[in-house]
Amino acid sequence: MITKLFAKPLLYLAPLAGYTDQPYRLLCKEWGAEVLISEMVSADGLIRDSAKTVQFINFAAAERPFGIQIFGHDALTMAKAAEFIVPYQPDFIDINMGCPVKKVVRRGAGSALMQAPALAAQIVREVKSALCGQIPLSVKFRSGRDLQSLNYIDFGLLMQDSGADFITLHPRTAKQMFAGKSNWEHIAALKAKVHIPVIGNGDITTPEEASQMLSQTHCDGLMIGRGALGKPWFFKQCRDFLSLGSYAPITKTQLLDTVLKHIDNALLFKREIVVVREMRSQLCFYTKGQLGGAELRNKINHTETADELKNLLINGLDSL
Ligand SMILES: Cc1cc2nc3c(=O)[nH]c(=O)nc-3n(C[C@H](O)[C@H](O)[C@H](O)COP(=O)(O)O)c2cc1C
Repeated sequence: MITKLFAKPLLYLAPLAGYTDQPYRLLCKEWGAEVLISEMVSADGLIRDSAKTVQFINFAAAERPFGIQIFGHDALTMAKAAEFIVPYQPDFIDINMGCPVKKVVRRGAGSALMQAPALAAQIVREVKSALCGQIPLSVKFRSGRDLQSLNYIDFGLLMQDSGADFITLHPRTAKQMFAGKSNWEHIAALKAKVHIPVIGNGDITTPEEASQMLSQTHCDGLMIGRGALGKPWFFKQCRDFLSLGSYAPITKTQLLDTVLKHIDNALLFKREIVVVREMRSQLCFYTKGQLGGAELRNKINHTETADELKNLLINGLDSL
C-alpha cells in the first residue's frame, strides 16, 4: 500500500491551512499533483466537535492517494483522532510536528513537539497502534527550534524508530517561520541517515528547482506548497521537466479556464458568498506579478457574486 506513494519520486501538494481545501486540491490533481493532503486538522476538534471539524477530513476518490494531517499535543487524543479517521480510509495519516504558529506551539503541538522528543515518540507509537497496521503514518517536521538547536536527524531517527512509515522535512527552523531559505542540505543529510522514505519540502518555485532538489538530496518525493499557489499547473510543469527536460508556459486561455474552474469547484462545496470572499486571497496569487493585476485585485475585493467575479476575470485577465 505504501509503495505506491513512492513508485517514482512523486509530487505532493503541501498542506496549506486556508488554501488547500477540496476545490483547490481537485484542481491541483487535474494539473498533475500526484499526492494530496488535507489542511491540518485539530485532533482535539475532531473528537470533541466532529460535526464542525469533519469537513476538513472529507475527500473525494479522485483525490487519492490522499493523506489526512492531524495536530495536537496529547498522545491519547491523537490516537482517538486517528481511530476516528480510520473509517474514512485515507491513504496515510500525517502528524504535524512542524507548525511554528504561536496558537499551535503555545499548546505544545506542531513544532513544539521537536523540543519534547519523548512525547513526540509516544504520540507516534500511540497513533500507529490506533491504526492497527491498516493505514501508513508519516510525520512532517522542521530542522529544529533555531539554528543553535538543529535536531532534525535525531528527531527523524526517533520518528522512524517509533513507527513512522515515512517523514517530510521542511528544512527551516521554527524560529525562522518562513524567512530566509530552506536548507536542502538538511534533507540530503536526513535521507542519508534514515531507511524510511523522506519527502523534501521547501522553496520549490520553478521546475528546475524541483529537479535540483531531487538530485541534491536524493529524496523520495517532492512537496510543493507556496510555489503552486495561484499556479495549480505548476505540478504539470514540474513533471514535464523531470521526465522530458522541458515544459510549456501557461497560455492566457489555460489561465482563465483554470481560474474559472477553481471558482466552479468551490461553488460545489461552499455557499456563493463564502466562495466570493475566500477566492480573494487565492486570486491574489493568480494575478500576482501581472501588469494591471493590482487594479484587478482591487475590483475583485469589492465583488459580491460569483457571476460578477467571473465577468471581472474574463474581461480583466484578457486585458492583462
Ligand atoms: C499559509 C500557509 C499554511 C500552512 N499550513 C500548513 C499546514 O496546515 N500543515 C503543515 O504541515 N504545514 C503548513 N504549512 C507549511 C507548508 O506545508 C510547507 O511546509 C511550507 O510552506 C514550505 O513549503 P513551500 O516553500 O513549498 O511553501 C503552511 C504554510 C503556509 C504558507
